Amino acid sequence: MSCLMKFFKFCCITTFVLLLIVAATFVAIYFTILKPKNPEMVMQPVELEGFSLTSILPPILHVKLGVTVTVDNHNYGSFKYENGTTYIKYRETVVAEALIEGDTLPARAKHNISTTVNLSADKLVLNRDFLMDYNSGWLNVTSTTMLHGRVKVLKLFKMKATTYSNCDTSIDLKNQTSVSFCNHKIKY
Ligand SMILES: *[C@@H]1O[C@H](CO)[C@@H](O)[C@H](O)[C@H]1NC(C)=O
Ligand SMILES: *[C@@H]1O[C@H](CO)[C@@H](O)[C@H](O)[C@H]1NC(C)=O
Ligand SMILES: *[C@@H]1O[C@H](CO)[C@@H](O)[C@H](O)[C@H]1NC(C)=O
Ligand SMILES: *[C@@H]1O[C@H](CO)[C@@H](O)[C@H](O)[C@H]1NC(C)=O
Ligand SMILES: *[C@@H]1O[C@H](CO)[C@@H](O)[C@H](O)[C@H]1NC(C)=O
Repeated sequence: MSCLMKFFKFCCITTFVLLLIVAATFVAIYFTILKPKNPEMVMQPVELEGFSLTSILPPILHVKLGVTVTVDNHNYGSFKYENGTTYIKYRETVVAEALIEGDTLPARAKHNISTTVNLSADKLVLNRDFLMDYNSGWLNVTSTTMLHGRVKVLKLFKMKATTYSNCDTSIDLKNQTSVSFCNHKIKY
């Protein structure tokens, strides 16, 4: 009788310890592999790819901006993001926009989406501040991209994320170079 009791006690303890190990293993796997992690969708500094101002009256202006968004998926699952748009604003007025085409990134992959945007002269020059900016030697534009997507790990764990990227670009009219400052934030 006492022998049987001892056997049951041993069985109980062994089972309990095994269950603990299995549970700990699952928790560890969840936090290292399965748990969805924040995907990154970040705009790179906007580049000035072309600029020409051949005349002020009548205005003949061509500005070509290169926009690159880097999408980085740290997950052991795919990340699908939807179509998005980059808006270029000049003094609070949207002067151009470009499509950021949606795609699916496989597990632990990273890629760049690049587009070029042409700024239309009429929209810029119609702005009553244009001449003032022209005289100051700087043309400043703001680019904004919002992207929305979801992470899926093993069809079980899902996470939605929306990112907002912003770049302030100053175009130096004298030597036709540009500097950009970007920042971004993410929302779930
Ligand atoms: C995304 O944009 C492309 C190109 O304009 C279009 O063909 C596609 O239907 C769009 N997808 C969605 C989900 O709107
Ligand atoms: C994406 O673009 C950035 C900046 O232009 C560059 O540093 C990076 O190497 C590119 N990454 C890939 C995966 O092409
Ligand atoms: C921008 O303008 C250039 C010529 O000025 C043209 O070749 C190019 O296709 C245009 N790009 C877009 C996206 O409209
Ligand atoms: C445009 O950017 C330049 C350089 O960053 C800055 O000195 C200037 O004040 C800005 N102009 C306007 C109108 O914001
Ligand atoms: C362009 O001019 C600005 C000052 O006007 C200077 O800070 C900048 O370094 C120049 N860029 C190049 C590439 O020469």
